[in-house]
Amino acid sequence: MWRHLNRLLFWSIFSSVTCRKAVLDCEAMKTNEFPSPCLDSKTNVVMKGQNVSMFCSHKNKSLQITYSLFRHKTHLGTQNGKGEPAIFNLSITEAHESGPYKCKAQVCSCSKYSRDFNFTIVEPVTAPVLNITVIQTETDRHITLHCLSVNGSLPINYTFFEKHIAISPAISKYDRESAEFKLTRKNPGEEEEYRCEAKNRLPDYAAYSQTVTMPSTGKSDQSSFSQV
Ligand SMILES: *[C@@H]1O[C@H](CO)[C@@H](O)[C@H](O)[C@H]1NC(C)=O
Ligand SMILES: *[C@@H]1O[C@H](CO)[C@@H](O)[C@H](O)[C@H]1NC(C)=O
Ligand SMILES: *[C@@H]1O[C@H](CO)[C@@H](O)[C@H](O)[C@H]1NC(C)=O
Ligand SMILES: *[C@@H]1O[C@H](CO)[C@@H](O)[C@H](O)[C@H]1NC(C)=O
Ligand SMILES: *[C@@H]1O[C@H](CO)[C@@H](O)[C@H](O)[C@H]1NC(C)=O
Ligand SMILES: *[C@@H]1O[C@H](CO)[C@@H](O)[C@H](O)[C@H]1NC(C)=O
Ligand SMILES: *[C@@H]1O[C@H](CO)[C@@H](O)[C@H](O)[C@H]1NC(C)=O
Repeated sequence: MWRHLNRLLFWSIFSSVTCRKAVLDCEAMKTNEFPSPCLDSKTNVVMKGQNVSMFCSHKNKSLQITYSLFRHKTHLGTQNGKGEPAIFNLSITEAHESGPYKCKAQVCSCSKYSRDFNFTIVEPVTAPVLNITVIQTETDRHITLHCLSVNGSLPINYTFFEKHIAISPAISKYDRESAEFKLTRKNPGEEEEYRCEAKNRLPDYAAYSQTVTMPSTGKSDQSSFSQV
């Protein structure tokens, strides 16, 4: 019992000493000794309802630090850490939850705030619609591909594919209008499959149109081909 109390006493004295020391350090070396923490996330572009992890870290790996996360003035949580960043998991469901976030690092009465961190909420693209127009001439087919995603925050990048190979560069659209890509194919032609992809700033998220198949031309007409 006494031993236990002694230990308690010892620890409280010890910690208040380290605190006092830290306070002194804090006052003496206002900026350099105890710099501001860093607040970060793997991405700052999210969709509504997305779960995100925010990391609050400090340069000094040897101090026991109390990290607190705030959105505006709202306190969202507190964690203690040493060496490792504190991880705060949250879900962004409302527009006002995009920020600004701030993290506080505290050692005893010495505390510093990180810079603001804001999320950008982006509506995900929906599966785009691909439509194809073909102008057939004697020797060629002039093909025009159109691709449009009716939903999803702008800008949207569209890419056209034949089978699984990209045949167009990324075409950026800053308005809700379809991307267009023209190509010419010789007759007779193989069966061709086209598809398009829509992607906006949301990382790791793209939507694809259905595959549109164009039947082969002149396949049953080999003799006329060889006569040309
Ligand atoms: C986010 O996390 C909550 C629980 O923390 C879970 O119920 C929900 O399904 C998650 N949402 C997504 C989009 O992963
Ligand atoms: C961490 O902080 C302590 C106490 O202020 C200081 O003695 C030490 O030098 C710091 N370490 C680094 C790597 O800055
Ligand atoms: C936070 O989220 C990460 C990734 O989803 C998960 O691995 C971790 O266990 C979560 N931590 C807490 C405290 O919920
Ligand atoms: C975060 O958003 C707030 C409010 O919209 C704004 O005042 C602040 O400048 C933004 N900070 C950053 C780093 O973008
Ligand atoms: C194909 O898309 C273009 C551009 O959006 C549009 O003008 C045209 O009417 C569409 N055609 C069909 C058949 O849907
Ligand atoms: C596009 O968004 C509107 C409104 O949010 C919704 O009603 C509609 O179903 C969406 N369209 C698609 C193709 O998801
Ligand atoms: C869209 O494509 C352009 C050109 O390739 C690229 O610079 C830009 O980062 C892309 N944007 C998105 C949101 O993927």
